[in-house]
Amino acid sequence: MSITYKDAEGVRGMREACRLASEVLDYLTPHVKPGVTTREIDRLAADYMVNVQGTKSATLGYQPPGYPPYPASLCTSLNHVVCHGIPNDKPLKKGDIMNIDVTVITRDGWFGDNSRMYIIGDASIAAKRLCAITYEAMWHGIVRVKPGARLGDIGFAIQKFAESNGYSVVREFCGHGIGKVFHEEPQVLHYGKPGTLEELKPGMTFTIEPMINAGRKDIKEMGDGWTIVTKDHSLSAQWEHTILVTETGYEVLTLSAGSPPPPAFVAAAAPAPATA
Ligand code: MF3
Ligand code: CO
Ligand code: CO
Repeated sequence: MSITYKDAEGVRGMREACRLASEVLDYLTPHVKPGVTTREIDRLAADYMVNVQGTKSATLGYQPPGYPPYPASLCTSLNHVVCHGIPNDKPLKKGDIMNIDVTVITRDGWFGDNSRMYIIGDASIAAKRLCAITYEAMWHGIVRVKPGARLGDIGFAIQKFAESNGYSVVREFCGHGIGKVFHEEPQVLHYGKPGTLEELKPGMTFTIEPMINAGRKDIKEMGDGWTIVTKDHSLSAQWEHTILVTETGYEVLTLSAGSPPPPAFVAAAAPAPATA
């Protein structure tokens, strides 16, 4: 397998898949509150994807080599869960933070992958800061995306920002190319050195999805074969967008009405083009 470069039709397909993936998160937002179980959130999302959107979950039954089939339509990663948390019957409680990660497949076979952090009711200043810094870390990576830049530029920017804020970057999981395949080349590391690794070219589509820990970077896997937690049980946060490399820079594909706005430094660095 190798990197796939999307043509005009591919870009159209990816735009649609990614918008729909983002709209699933929009749909879930009002339901993510104290007292609700993650299984109920999963059920709502599954129903919305299949019966409203006409999409399918990419995670339901997903089985990479060495894994058991993933049993749900999304991932719910709560507090010290780093990623791949499986929905269950425990009600959410005020003060929790949780990532919801949704990947859809459209009728045309395109995949859109994204995740957001949700603050349940209200949370501690420390938990909210971790969510906010992780969001900014993702965007520090996104703004590096343009033809001629390298994957190492993205990883470096994310790592530098996260570590300068006193956090650590999970190493074992990374962003990934995406298209008509869920996880394709290249791997998009969230740490690294500028000027290294694959050169970015127009038509590439990949995710940027940093997992940032409040404590140490080390993780461990739980007995269910999927759930990843921080080894020191410190809080962990993650945000994810799917990005297209354009002729001049980047386009964030996983946007919809409910997407949070980019941080201030993004708007300042890339003002909207003047209209004649
Ligand atoms: N959506 C996740 C990602 O960002 C992958 C989840 S795989 C699952 O790549 F099986 F755990 F759902
Ligand atoms: Co992903
Ligand atoms: Co994802």
